[in-house]
Amino acid sequence: MIVTTKKLFEAAYGKYAIGAYNINNLEQCMGLFQGNLESRAPFIIQISKGARTYSNKRMLEGLIRAADEVFPEAVFAVHLDHGDVDTCLDCIDSGFYSSVMIDASHEPYEKNVEITRGVVNVAHDRGIVVEAELGQLGGVEEHVVVSEANAKLTDPDQAKDFVTRTGIDSLACAIGTSHGAFKFSGTQGLHFDVLEQIQQRLPGFPLVMHGSSSVPQEEVARINAAGGSMKGAKGVDADQFRHAAKLGVTKINIDTDGRLVWTRVHREFFRDQPEKFDLRDPGKIFMAEYAKFIAGKNEKLGSAGKLDELKKIL
Ligand code: G3H
Ligand code: 13P
Ligand code: ZN
Repeated sequence: MIVTTKKLFEAAYGKYAIGAYNINNLEQCMGLFQGNLESRAPFIIQISKGARTYSNKRMLEGLIRAADEVFPEAVFAVHLDHGDVDTCLDCIDSGFYSSVMIDASHEPYEKNVEITRGVVNVAHDRGIVVEAELGQLGGVEEHVVVSEANAKLTDPDQAKDFVTRTGIDSLACAIGTSHGAFKFSGTQGLHFDVLEQIQQRLPGFPLVMHGSSSVPQEEVARINAAGGSMKGAKGVDADQFRHAAKLGVTKINIDTDGRLVWTRVHREFFRDQPEKFDLRDPGKIFMAEYAKFIAGKNEKLGSAGKLDELKKIL
């Protein structure tokens, strides 16, 4: 069942965070639904602009509609990740997305307010909720590359002004994470002090943590042992998710870790079985491993086991 992120956040606020997972293809879609149902967790499917181009936007929608039929017990939101104005409008028009992110965080503050407010007006008229970003994460996103040195933490006072003036439904905050597999190159860590100040100014308002992959060292070691080259890859400590949830983080974005599962499975498969060429063989392993990964992540987020109580209040 597709619901808005708003519904999921109402149930989760202050208690646990919902996993927001990016998908690009059939195997990720299957593993995602299986893993969430195995761990009885509600979840958010995120689709980036790049994913909409890679798999064709209609193909991705078709996959998710089919998954909704194949897994009727699943409760999830469909969300556009890091959208620009045109992509937000296209997703709103499609009638399929329950939530969009407008990311104008690279613009000057007043421009970010103006662009975001415009998308909120259109989305809310259609019953679609909006996430926007204030501050800037390091790393690579669809249309912007930001070095760690240039990343800007969210200003708590500005956050309150931004939410009030834009009418958004959730706020992506920059609190020290970055996108991709190479986070915290210096001594940086998560700035819970900033998160606390934002929560004080916006009590009860859902916050979002992007760039939250853990980049497990065991996974990186296996990739490197199977021919990869990912020296120095590092991520967020997943044991910090519960603390973030208590401070108002209701959505935690994870993409890179899923890519690492894919890379490890395929590198090891072809290293160990060089004679094989049926794509379904590693595909089957990937789907099972991805499902296991999702279920494990949901335990860390606290969303595992929450599906049934959520259904009672929907
Ligand atoms: O924050 C970006 C997400 O990880 C999506 O990545 O734009 O390469 O699909 P992508
Ligand atoms: P990671 O690169 O840490 O997985 O972050 C993904 C993300 O924030 C998607 O919006
Ligand atoms: Zn992101």
